Amino acid sequence: MQLNLFDTDDIQPGQDNNLDERNEILALRKELEEANYKYYVLSQPTLSDREFDTKMRRLQELEAKHPELADKNSPTQHVGSDLSKKSGFRQMEHKRPMLSLANTYSEQEIRDWYERICKDTAYRPDIVCELKYDGLSISLIYENGELRHALTRGDGTRGDDVIDNIKTIASIPWKAGTGNFEIRGEVLLPWKSFERLNKEREEQEEPLFANPRNAASGTLKLQDPRIVAKRGLYAYLYYLLSDNLPADTHYGCLQTAKQMGFNISDAISVCHSIEEIMQFINYWDTARKTLPVATDGIVLKVNDLMLQRQLGYTAKTPRWAIAYKFPAEKQLTLLKKITYQVGRTGVVTPVANLEPVQLSGTIVQRATLHNEDFILQLGIQEGDMVWVEKGGEIIPKITGKEQPGDSQVNQATDMPQSGFRFITTCPECGAELVRDPEQSAWRCPNEDGCPPQLKGKIEHFVARKAMNIDGLGSETIDLFYERGLLRNIADLYDLQAEQILSLEGFQQKATRNILDGIAASKQVPWNRVLFALGIRYVGETTAKKLARRFTSVDMLRKATSEQLTEVEDVGVQIAESISTYFSKQDNIKITERLRQAGVQLEAADASATPISDILAGQTIVISGTFQKHSRDEYKDIIEQHGGKNTGSVSKKTDFILAGENMGPQKLEKARQLGIRIMSEEEFLDLIS
Ligand code: IVH
Repeated sequence: MQLNLFDTDDIQPGQDNNLDERNEILALRKELEEANYKYYVLSQPTLSDREFDTKMRRLQELEAKHPELADKNSPTQHVGSDLSKKSGFRQMEHKRPMLSLANTYSEQEIRDWYERICKDTAYRPDIVCELKYDGLSISLIYENGELRHALTRGDGTRGDDVIDNIKTIASIPWKAGTGNFEIRGEVLLPWKSFERLNKEREEQEEPLFANPRNAASGTLKLQDPRIVAKRGLYAYLYYLLSDNLPADTHYGCLQTAKQMGFNISDAISVCHSIEEIMQFINYWDTARKTLPVATDGIVLKVNDLMLQRQLGYTAKTPRWAIAYKFPAEKQLTLLKKITYQVGRTGVVTPVANLEPVQLSGTIVQRATLHNEDFILQLGIQEGDMVWVEKGGEIIPKITGKEQPGDSQVNQATDMPQSGFRFITTCPECGAELVRDPEQSAWRCPNEDGCPPQLKGKIEHFVARKAMNIDGLGSETIDLFYERGLLRNIADLYDLQAEQILSLEGFQQKATRNILDGIAASKQVPWNRVLFALGIRYVGETTAKKLARRFTSVDMLRKATSEQLTEVEDVGVQIAESISTYFSKQDNIKITERLRQAGVQLEAADASATPISDILAGQTIVISGTFQKHSRDEYKDIIEQHGGKNTGSVSKKTDFILAGENMGPQKLEKARQLGIRIMSEEEFLDLIS
């Protein structure tokens, strides 16, 4: 997607106050636009909601102060967009724009909002209080009572039609009444399903979702409704729209919708005063923690639809509604001990071991302390009472320590109040740590002797994108390492069935699975083997580029720094890392053993070099699941025959390589555009 970013070349160094504020406006617009993209399109938030909201507020204030700098493209003027060119869904215009809600974290601002509403309507209108569900908004469109479209918010004016995925949600009726109407609500992934999904993803070595909202959003963008159905999405509806509504209040409309079969939450109340509103907020602030789905606040809406019309809208939000957001949940607890974890790459991360506390539905007893600088900045040491928070991320974090004004009682018992000093030697192997200036981290340099780093290298080698050896999760590798069966990647190829069978819990089937996976890995092409070796900085893409230029491990080993840096994206740092790798005798021995075991250390089938140009100039989309090769392998095959692989179907697509369960949206689009759909067999025939 083309990012609508603001040109920061415009930013000039601060001389006077106005210039500073102008620069701040430009920088905030850029930062918020990027954050929107990561949140809505990539489902990978980088800012917590609180941070995002605070920055948005600041931008609003600055823009109000500098009307001469108004820009209709500013993130204050439009809702964040989840539209992606690559989405593969049909996009449709919203009949009525899908707006966002003004929000606040302050009870006082809720009072102010209510007073303003009273003043503007010259009335004390009833306010409907509802929970603010933390998922993603959806607009369901019914024609003659039939569910015809389900649009995501998109950019507020156009959304993706994800109807096939929405139809997998049991609580959404496919038929309701006989009229034409639209009903909006929130698609959610309940906590339980979210935890199950992340567990599965962990086992499959796929990146975890940070929270249920991101998981729901990632799920709804999937092309295969069968997978969507398995994930267990849920939905609450909260807003009925039609040219002839069944009632003249918001509450009345929702009750009719309920009778029509829609899932309307019972956590809803018509409040007649600010006191009742505050009671609702205070009650649900605690009660929401027992709900099966995530909520992040309360939504207040003027009940009377005529008053709603009278109050109207700003560019982005209705004036008749506001959201009160709950502060991120945090707890004060005792930091019992700081321990250290050595990662696969040798980075040493300090970990806070806490007196267990209940936080957002789970018990937290460990939290990251990031790095030495972080601890020093917060002035934390063992025995302190610290604040622990669960933000948008999975791992809880420490955000500060108890200050004199904090109300909670210090429960610190007889912990020593020692000054903090980061460890100087590796807790795993005793090597002296070195400071990595790039990551402001301490690192264990003993790559070839430090157990977590050795195990990490093996984990990386067997990973799906590397040698794709099944049955060897991190626990199994730990066990094999402890029993002395595995010390390095070459040892994998010496494993014997009897050795594995002698370990507790390993039956014939699991053993066969591992050994078959190891045997099959001997077919993995050179470029992926190169990635699997785990040379520092040589990622998947760099490995591909290197393997294309250096078609064997021997060529790569002998390459000079100049030759290496001639390869696209390879700079001095990567070149040095490759030289260092091959300067070690142990690594030479390992690659030699791999070669003897039959691992592809050269482009034997010329996998890295072109095989033919039969697909030259052709753009091919891959969809579905395949029998003979994996999707990644098909991508390589297409490239080896001169073709180009792209993600979404368009006029430029020459054909679709379709496996089983091809995505229905892609199928429909291909039919509309008259694009050829080729089966796996036909494709293999073509290239052979
Ligand atoms: S009403 C024009 N009610 O919050 C107002 N929104 O931050 C329409 N949300 O985009 C929205 N729970 O996705 C409304 N009970 C609720 C809600 C709710 C969650 C979401 C919705 C909206 C976002 C705004």
